[in-house]
Formats: sequence, C-alpha cells, structure tokens
Amino acid sequence: MTVTKKILIAYATVHGSTAEIAEFMGQMFGENHFDVTVANVETLESVAGYDAYILGSAIHAGMWLTPMSRFLDRFEGELAKQPLYFFITCIRILEPDGYQHALENYVHRDTLEKIGARDIAIFAGKLRLDAIDLRDRWTLSLRYDGSQAPGMLNDDYRDWNAIRNWTARVRSELEKSVL
Ligand SMILES: Cc1cc2nc3c(=O)[nH]c(=O)nc-3n(C[C@H](O)[C@H](O)[C@H](O)COP(=O)(O)O)c2cc1C
Repeated sequence: MTVTKKILIAYATVHGSTAEIAEFMGQMFGENHFDVTVANVETLESVAGYDAYILGSAIHAGMWLTPMSRFLDRFEGELAKQPLYFFITCIRILEPDGYQHALENYVHRDTLEKIGARDIAIFAGKLRLDAIDLRDRWTLSLRYDGSQAPGMLNDDYRDWNAIRNWTARVRSELEKSVL
C-alpha cells in the first residue's frame, strides 16, 4: 500500500516571484501524487501533520525576509522533526562569486543546522525596478552588496530548468525515504 506523503512548501516574498517558484514546485510534487500545500509563511498557524518541508525566501538587504525569520522561530521545534529543504532567491547569484557569497552571507547557517536543512538551493530571482517603490529602490541601492550596480540587474532571471532539476532531486529523495 502506498501512503500519500504530505509536503508543505512555505515561502516568504515581497514582490511575488518566490511565491511563483513555490507554486511551480507544488505542481511538480502534485504530479507525482504527493499531497502538497503551498502557502505564504505569514498565513500559517500550524506546521503539524506534514511529512516534509520545503521553505523558500527572497533575499532583501542581505538576509531572508523577516516573516521567514518569525516562522522559523515559531515552528523550529516541529520543523526539525521532518526532512526539510531550503531555498533562497536573490540577484547576487548572477555575479561571479555569487553562489559562495550568498551561501556565506545570506543564510543563517546556525538556524538551518538547528532545523536540520538537508540542502540549500540558491536561485536567481526577479527584479523589475519599475515594479518596486521608491523605498525599496533606496534599500536596494544602499544595501546591495554586489559589485554591479543593482540597476544593471533588472530582469526576470529565474532559471526554471535549475528550479525543476533541484525540485526533481528533492522529490526523488522524498519518494525514496521512509518518512
Ligand atoms: C528592496 C530589495 C532589496 C534586495 N536586496 C537584495 C540583496 O541584498 N541581495 C540580493 O542578491 N538580492 C536582493 N534583492 C533581489 C531580490 O532578492 C530578488 O528580486 C527576489 O527575486 C525577490 O523576490 P520576491 O519577488 O519573491 O520578493 C533585493 C530586492 C529588493 C526589492
């Protein structure tokens, strides 16, 4: 008898592109008969009853978003009990040392170790300067820590193949594991 595995894909976003990635992952899991819930971390009152978690956040000003921090603080104990995968979206990854930089600076390793994250993916995000307000533009120009002017990085850089490949790998690990 096959038991349907319940997966929670929870995301933190400001401008919606990380949510679209989470929805895309949700569809991939749904196609393989997982029972998948995709939700904004801000709407979740409980994380009980899931067999695995995939958490994702956009990066703003060098760190994952505050709603993701609150979510991790609140549910750390429960999240640590099941397999957990983490991803971030950012533009720094487009620069030559971007992957390493993001890994070393944009994620709080102690927290991810505490909740037992099995893998951390870093995906290129989407940044459309005409779609963000003046305050966000200021934050970006003052806090972006890459060598390129953030105004030069103004596009949808999401690499759906990379996202698909990572999700397929996670899905296959979860299919195989006895949860
Ligand atoms: C105000 C602001 C600050 C940002 N800060 C960073 C940053 O420090 N490093 C980085 O690599 N990307 C940064 N980004 C780019 C975002 O991570 C990227 O656009 C992401 O895809 C946004 O996801 P969202 O659409 O889900 O909010 C910033 C974007 C904005 C709007």
